[in-house]
Amino acid sequence: MFEILSAERISPGVRRAVISAPDIARAHRPGQFIILRCHENGERIPLTVADKDVEKGTITLVWQEVGVTTYYLGTMCAGDRLQDLCGPLGKPTHVKKFGTVVGVGGGIGVAPLFPITKAMQQAGNHVISIVGSRTEGLLIMTEEMRKVSDELLISTDDGSFGIHGFVTQVLQSVIDRGAKIDLCVAIGPVPMMRAVVKVTRAANVPTVVSLNPIMVDGTGMCGSCRVEVGGKTRFGCVDGSEFDGFEVDFDLLMKRLAMYKGPELIALNKFRETERGCQCRIPGGAA
Ligand code: FAD
Ligand code: FES
Ligand code: MG
Repeated sequence: MFEILSAERISPGVRRAVISAPDIARAHRPGQFIILRCHENGERIPLTVADKDVEKGTITLVWQEVGVTTYYLGTMCAGDRLQDLCGPLGKPTHVKKFGTVVGVGGGIGVAPLFPITKAMQQAGNHVISIVGSRTEGLLIMTEEMRKVSDELLISTDDGSFGIHGFVTQVLQSVIDRGAKIDLCVAIGPVPMMRAVVKVTRAANVPTVVSLNPIMVDGTGMCGSCRVEVGGKTRFGCVDGSEFDGFEVDFDLLMKRLAMYKGPELIALNKFRETERGCQCRIPGGAA
């Protein structure tokens, strides 16, 4: 079992935990994820390894509370143990010296973008990072991103911090100022990644997106993570999770992500009725 060494809230609805997992820390490469179960009867969920410390034998997870498992995980404290943690899974990001790399992170997408940005800078790239959220309180990991970027641009949709506007508008302004961009890496909500691709396609900037289809085993056996890329069916877990953004069928991905909304809501309502669910103050819940 994997011990949680520290756990904290880093913005409304977003938590971070450092977990003892020496083998995963050692083997992990940027872009890879783990699949965990909180308890014996819990479901499996994928989360990206947002950071690691090989010497201490730890990995860091950052997650947004959206449903039963992510809320449950948020109730776990330092000293608690996860039932299981499997990884590292997925293909590592292709890291090399491209030249100028622009990373675009929206909302919780900044967490998976962080290790990739760090690796791209270490590989000698000039890294421009664009991070954004709906409002100031929802911005995460901006100081961490600043340390691994040559230039950091922050935007909020409501203008409460940084540039007023969407990350795509900031990206467009970077393109418009004539910067030669060799690669764009975009991670965030599916509509955001689709919007980024619209901008980069017009400017002919190769773009990698990190897809988040529903995953169960994470090893290519169940098929639940099917995505369509370049007209072909690919498995998010073993062929990705990064794909050529120009080739992805985002509409299909969005449809598949919404497939279990009904049962997920029923499960969340049931969880709200439990002592643990009540403790975690789920918005709209009885607590
Ligand atoms: P539920 O109410 O069960 O689901 C809410 C929504 O989350 C669903 O409608 C569906 O769209 C999605 N979802 C549900 N179950 C799964 C599943 N088994 N696999 C994938 N998506 C699911 N989120 C983070 O906050 N931080 C991360 O670092 C992160 N990394 C990810 C890496 C990968 C490779 C993938 C595929 C997803 C990642 N996610 C990450 C998304 C995270 O897995 C889901 O938010 C989580 O599974 C939701 O579970 P839940 O029970 O709390 O919510
Ligand atoms: Fe089962 Fe990808 S998660 S095949
Ligand atoms: Mg769930």
